[in-house]
Amino acid sequence: MKILLGISGGIAAYKTPELVRLLKKAGHQVRVACTRNALELVSRIALETVSGEPVLFETFTPRTHPGVEHIDLAGWPDAVVIAPATANVIAKLACGLADDFLTTVLLATPAPVWIAPGMNTRMWEHPATLENVQRLIGRGVGVIGPDSGELACGTSGPGRMSEPSVIVGILEEHFARPRPLAGRRVLITAGATREHLDPVRFISNPSTGRMGVALARAARELGAEVTLVHGHLEVPVPDGVVAVPAGSAIELHRAVFEWKDRADLLIMTAAVGDYMSASPAAEKMKKEALGATLTLQLVRTPDILAELAQSGNDPSGAGTAPRAPRPKLVGFAAETAGGDESRLLELARQKLSRKGCDALFANDVSIAGAGFAAETNQGVLLFADGHVVWVPQGTKDQVAASLLESVVASLLL
Ligand SMILES: Cc1cc2nc3c(=O)[nH]c(=O)nc-3n(C[C@H](O)[C@H](O)[C@H](O)COP(=O)(O)O)c2cc1C
Repeated sequence: MKILLGISGGIAAYKTPELVRLLKKAGHQVRVACTRNALELVSRIALETVSGEPVLFETFTPRTHPGVEHIDLAGWPDAVVIAPATANVIAKLACGLADDFLTTVLLATPAPVWIAPGMNTRMWEHPATLENVQRLIGRGVGVIGPDSGELACGTSGPGRMSEPSVIVGILEEHFARPRPLAGRRVLITAGATREHLDPVRFISNPSTGRMGVALARAARELGAEVTLVHGHLEVPVPDGVVAVPAGSAIELHRAVFEWKDRADLLIMTAAVGDYMSASPAAEKMKKEALGATLTLQLVRTPDILAELAQSGNDPSGAGTAPRAPRPKLVGFAAETAGGDESRLLELARQKLSRKGCDALFANDVSIAGAGFAAETNQGVLLFADGHVVWVPQGTKDQVAASLLESVVASLLL
């Protein structure tokens, strides 16, 4: 594998020549990019000697490189690991700052990124650092450590960078993981649509987009190229995922039909409004003009899932027209079954046969810890051939991983 090691100005930078050595010993190609401050704490010559490559840290250099060096380097690695990751670099990465060579590469790379934080305990436990790390985790950045132990500042506690051998072990484990979706393209919809009545009012729903985002992250981890068509989201789009914003049901319909032919699998988790205003006002409706009551005329939005399911079928119905390929199609259904599993399954069966998709995941939003705005989810995954997989309660990341495992095994292998 090609690994880019990013080094920032933490005291544990002195351990990075050993990290380079271990990565190379494990058979990886290693290049090093660092901050200027890192070179105060580790020798450039040592890094260049062990890596056998120049250490890159300057954005503006005399033009010896034929292309744009930070962009070319960003496209080179299979994985990026920043060790040590200072509080400063973590904050910059969380905000998307690119004010030096390393952070510019980090913003431009499509490769998966890990950080191995290393810093004083108070810096690590500062709410700003913890919040930044959470933001990065939400975007799919891997976090290795930190360990708890003796620190360079003479104190002891959490903040010690993980040992180089541990960092190498975690990367190796990642590379060894099966990637059944490598070379496959997955299209996912997520979030809530907003059906505007006028420019300042809309009808919507409580979806946060967490489930779709978790699926996008899980599909990326299985090696897929992922596109996320999304309405309103309350969580960030994971790194390495192509985001296509679509505000309303009509926009989401258009985006999905535009992207579907490039997908092998389409998972519809977006909470798409069923009704929209029959005649949205171009200008803000004035209360004074409307009076004490407001009667709205709503019309049905397109049934995207059913249309998609039909889109691969022979439109003549005579079996003569060529069947256009369509991606495998997984729908989501938020049902209120009052905690009754057999009722949930029955509702899922009805919806699956009405829509004609290949699989349907139904969750019972009337129970605690399932569905809208919850951190967790659970439900039943029903396939068109009748087989059923019950997914137990777990975080949305855990539910996404088990859903994808079943979907890949049943529909794509
Ligand atoms: C001797 C020394 C050791 C330092 N160790 C750390 C550290 O372990 N972690 C950290 O976040 N900052 C540490 N700092 C502070 C950073 O070097 C400082 O925040 C700097 O701006 C980080 O720059 P960079 O992220 O661009 O490399 C240290 C500073 C000094 C002088």
